[in-house]
Amino acid sequence: QSVEKKEVRVWCDGCYDMVHFGHANSLRQAKALGDKVIVGIHTDEEITKHKGPPVFTEEERVKMVKGIKWVDEVVLGAPYVTTLEVLDEYNCDFCVHGDDITMTAEGVDTYHLVKSANRYKEVRRTAGVSTTDLVGRMLLLTRNHFHQGSAEYAIEKEGSSNMGQDSSAKSPWTGCSQFLPTTQKIIQFSDGKPPKPDDKIVYVAGAFDLFHVGHLDFLEKAKELGDYLIVGLHTDPVVNSYKGSNYPIMNLHERVLSVLACKYVNEVVIGAPYCVTEDLLDHFKIDVVCHGQTPIAFEDGKIDPYAVPKTRGIFTLIDSQNSMTTELIVERIISHRIEY
Ligand code: CTP
Ligand code: C5P
Repeated sequence: QSVEKKEVRVWCDGCYDMVHFGHANSLRQAKALGDKVIVGIHTDEEITKHKGPPVFTEEERVKMVKGIKWVDEVVLGAPYVTTLEVLDEYNCDFCVHGDDITMTAEGVDTYHLVKSANRYKEVRRTAGVSTTDLVGRMLLLTRNHFHQGSAEYAIEKEGSSNMGQDSSAKSPWTGCSQFLPTTQKIIQFSDGKPPKPDDKIVYVAGAFDLFHVGHLDFLEKAKELGDYLIVGLHTDPVVNSYKGSNYPIMNLHERVLSVLACKYVNEVVIGAPYCVTEDLLDHFKIDVVCHGQTPIAFEDGKIDPYAVPKTRGIFTLIDSQNSMTTELIVERIISHRIEY
């Protein structure tokens, strides 16, 4: 007689505002502690009460968390102080949170109830990335852009390059990243599964900077065109050459992890060529190449990066029906800067 082992359900909760690979990494570790991950997300009202208005709406935050491959269920309206009742309501054995203390507006540890009931486990917070840090990068970099040549620019630029820690951080536009990328992190985020022989392979390429709901909707549609989705990520200098200003906000390593955490993505090309080449199409046996409704920048103003797949008749435009862009996020931050 076999006794069926009970499924272990893990509860995680938080704001999940400007979802980044640090959030994804905590959910990945939570998944490893059980079988199912249930994520409780605070409403806009609740967050506003405790730490000021979020950058993203609750609909956007829910969608982003649902897009993370280690998440099984999402619950909107989780209480700011995690209760035993909410754990029981969703049949969760325990609650998992990063190893940082979170407090309510009144200074109460938001996990004191689950801690004293012994239904709390901790995972390691990902160093070098946070919403505050990303907002800081946007404010800093945008200010540099508008005040080039001024004293303010000189001081900040020096500060940011001192913080740079790897070779890609030599670029002024991502020099302020403090995240230390390792192959271990990439392995942990990756599926490690090659395509099956008869899989239809879809390829998309882009910056995917500050991975957002627009990217998520786009990748969902792209995945529907086949069985195996490969995302090509352009290097920081390439992204800067067509986005200008101080883009990208996230360096290549960070963008790799953000995209790998997405449930629609099977593989990532780290530093994809800007023009989709014959070699790339043949090497990965790509059946379909697609792009969204955003403008396609021609290389040197004249070469269509999709000329080769177009000639092969395998190029498709998709409509993500989502108007979010990285630039729009930066605008939101700038217009709310007083509040942050
Ligand atoms: N988290 C993490 N590593 C980070 C940022 C967040 O492990 N660099 C974890 C938190 O510890 C928490 C979960 O992500 O368990 C979601 O929490 P949320 O309330 O959204 O996180 P914040 O700590 O507010 O995230 P941030 O600092 O980025 O705003
Ligand atoms: O701008 P970026 O290079 O990050 O975009 C990557 C891909 O996502 C592009 O094909 C773009 O058209 C698509 N996209 C979309 N809808 C959005 C934002 C991006 O289809 N709202």
